[in-house]
Amino acid sequence: MADSDTYLRQPWSTVHGIPMVNAFAHNWERIDTFQSRPEDIVVVTFPKSGTTWVSEIVDMILKGGDPKKCKQEIIINRVPMLEFAAPGKMPAGTEQLEAMASPRIIKTHIPAHILPKSFWENGCKMIYVGRNAKDVAVSFYHFDLMNKFEPHPGTWAQYLELAEVGQVAYGSWYDHVKDYWERRKNHPILYLFYEDLKEDLRREIAKVARFLGRELPDAALDTITQQTSFEAMRDNPTTNYTMVPSQLMDHGVSPFMRKGTAGDWKNHFTVVQNERFDQDYAQKMSGTDLRFRTQI
Ligand code: PPS
Repeated sequence: MADSDTYLRQPWSTVHGIPMVNAFAHNWERIDTFQSRPEDIVVVTFPKSGTTWVSEIVDMILKGGDPKKCKQEIIINRVPMLEFAAPGKMPAGTEQLEAMASPRIIKTHIPAHILPKSFWENGCKMIYVGRNAKDVAVSFYHFDLMNKFEPHPGTWAQYLELAEVGQVAYGSWYDHVKDYWERRKNHPILYLFYEDLKEDLRREIAKVARFLGRELPDAALDTITQQTSFEAMRDNPTTNYTMVPSQLMDHGVSPFMRKGTAGDWKNHFTVVQNERFDQDYAQKMSGTDLRFRTQI
């Protein structure tokens, strides 16, 4: 059995030129050759953009809005993460998924150009969630402080500089959000925004249900809206990650369900950091019609 210390707080590995969580990078061939099923539903995001939120929404939709059915199992077993691996400790995401009945809901952060080809070939439905880059950086920084699978992020100032040049897990936020945005033109991708979910959760849940061809009665829509509020998910042990052992995720440092707001970046960016970030952002986002809101 591998010792968890061999992959916790380790520097990145690289897969296909993308910085990857050390533990996940082992035997990447399992990802490249992963076999999808046409009825798979893929929830894909750059980390910290609302993956858990939308995973819970999709699972609740498939279960007709019945909270009891969802609360029987923790989210990481209901919606396995494709690339997850903790060699010798926990089953890999690919193993979990192979044993699952269809329709499977699959979580991943893998950038579009290195997502297993099989998902594109099978026309699998994908739900992409984008969140503004500033709140993502703040959320990712706090996550890296508590999540031992990641290298220690250093100070906020050090971390922000690395994030701007894509030296964080899964690489450049810019490339990630833009590539899926373009691909939605030729593939069934529902592109959601974290800020829209914050603005009107019920509206966005109905959008997801329509995309999945599962129109819901009003009562089910109401239940899902209530059960997927930040407060409900923060207090739900099947969605708040408190069941993950503390040697892997230390909620005493920062809880996984941290603030759940749009605009928290204002509490972390200095004026100088914000100006530099905006300048770089304008340059990297020129030429796309993809727009994010940094507050609502
Ligand atoms: S991960 O580790 O990449 O899968 O993280 P991910 O789930 O994508 O993102 C975690 C952030 O999403 C917030 N979150 C929510 N916000 C509002 N409402 C609900 N229901 C909700 N569920 C999760 C979570 O708090 C993290 O954001 P921050 O800003 O750190 O609080």
